[in-house]
Amino acid sequence: MSDRSPVWHPFTQLALDPSPLNIRRAEGAYLETSDGRRVIDAISSWWVTLHGHAQPAIAAAVAEQAARLEHVLLAGFTHDAVEELSSRLRTHLPNELTRIFYSDDGSTAVEVALKMAVQYWQNIGRPGKTGIVALEHAYHGDTVGAMSVAADSEFNAAFGTMRFPVRRVHSAYCYRCPVRKTRATCKIDCLEKLERLLEQQNSEIAALIVEPLLQGAEGMIVHPVEFLAGVRELCTRHDVLLIADEVLTGFGRTGKMFACEHARVAPDLMCLAKGLTGGFLPMGATVCADFIAEAFVGPDKRRTFWHGHSYTGNPICCAAGIASLKIFESEPVFERIAGIAAIHAQRLATIREHPAVGDVRQIGTVAAIEIRADDAGYFSRLKPALYDFYLKRNVLLRPLGNVVYVLPPYCMKPAELNYVHDVVAASLDLALELTGNRAERARA
Ligand SMILES: Cc1ncc(COP(=O)(O)O)c(C=O)c1O
Repeated sequence: MSDRSPVWHPFTQLALDPSPLNIRRAEGAYLETSDGRRVIDAISSWWVTLHGHAQPAIAAAVAEQAARLEHVLLAGFTHDAVEELSSRLRTHLPNELTRIFYSDDGSTAVEVALKMAVQYWQNIGRPGKTGIVALEHAYHGDTVGAMSVAADSEFNAAFGTMRFPVRRVHSAYCYRCPVRKTRATCKIDCLEKLERLLEQQNSEIAALIVEPLLQGAEGMIVHPVEFLAGVRELCTRHDVLLIADEVLTGFGRTGKMFACEHARVAPDLMCLAKGLTGGFLPMGATVCADFIAEAFVGPDKRRTFWHGHSYTGNPICCAAGIASLKIFESEPVFERIAGIAAIHAQRLATIREHPAVGDVRQIGTVAAIEIRADDAGYFSRLKPALYDFYLKRNVLLRPLGNVVYVLPPYCMKPAELNYVHDVVAASLDLALELTGNRAERARA
């Protein structure tokens, strides 16, 4: 990193990390550096790019909208782009989810959901229901509320005094099962802790927040479908709102438009961002059920949801969102997704046999390999070594510590994806070398 640049890069340690690559243009699955290298973006630039970089139809829609109406505040005003995006989005969402509140990114979509859930109970005369339940290994963003519901980690260790208390329940992390079962013998026993908590404390609990089926940032942890179905059932039984954070999983990543569809459940609130604009622009949305929205309507001003951002419902972001949804509606996007999923499955079947590999996981377009490591976690020494290995081979992969994952844009061609997997497979010998004999002890 140039010490003359005023840019402060995210998740970056100036003293340790390599200089940033300067990207001058991008197209499809490729980023092109200022010195002419073409790097395959195998993580969709932090999980946002859906149909490819600089996708022409989205780029054109953005340009056209910017020239016509770049922005107008959304309080007291509306515009065609936000109306069209909302109506189109509705047709893809579970029927129960009828109202859409826009914000700026995934973190703010989560903040909005938490505030909406808490105020909902106040508005209907049950002000004691204020508590939030969240999962171990959760990640929901970096703003203070989102950071509070995220699991304790090195990332939020400095902010303990700012984070509000949360009731924490097990995640269905089968490879490191919290109740020491195996999938063959378990009846989703990790749900028992949640069941007990809700039985005893539901009168104080507003909502539970979950990343449905895939906990991303904490290691691409894939849950059994029955876990999400069980969470839904317990929340319904105990009158607790269910917030599905689909910021990562939304828009086809898991093989369905939204991950909740796999478990045939509808949450009460859903958070969207990342793929909402096809990966072009920052935008968040919190979608809620009609009964929640209704609780905010009435002559008493205190019922109002007093929340908003300067750029709420920005027309250019909406235009990108509409253009992205039109691609879903007019092109065989789910065939592309199925093609990616099939290649992942085939390649993981071989990769799992390598002695460096502890576990492989997959859901839809997301493939993950957990490498055995005595320093398992985000700060594993595997991360910088593997990152460098991949980049030297012109592949952008950013391991989450000892978890390597591939999360490509849907435009990635079979040959390109197979190349990415070839490079991952080749890196496993290096991983074994780095972890050495200690790996055998690592799983415990
Ligand atoms: C599940 C989930 N929720 C929320 C966020 C935060 O989104 P953003 O980075 O857009 O604020 C992320 C980001 O990775 C995420 O994976």
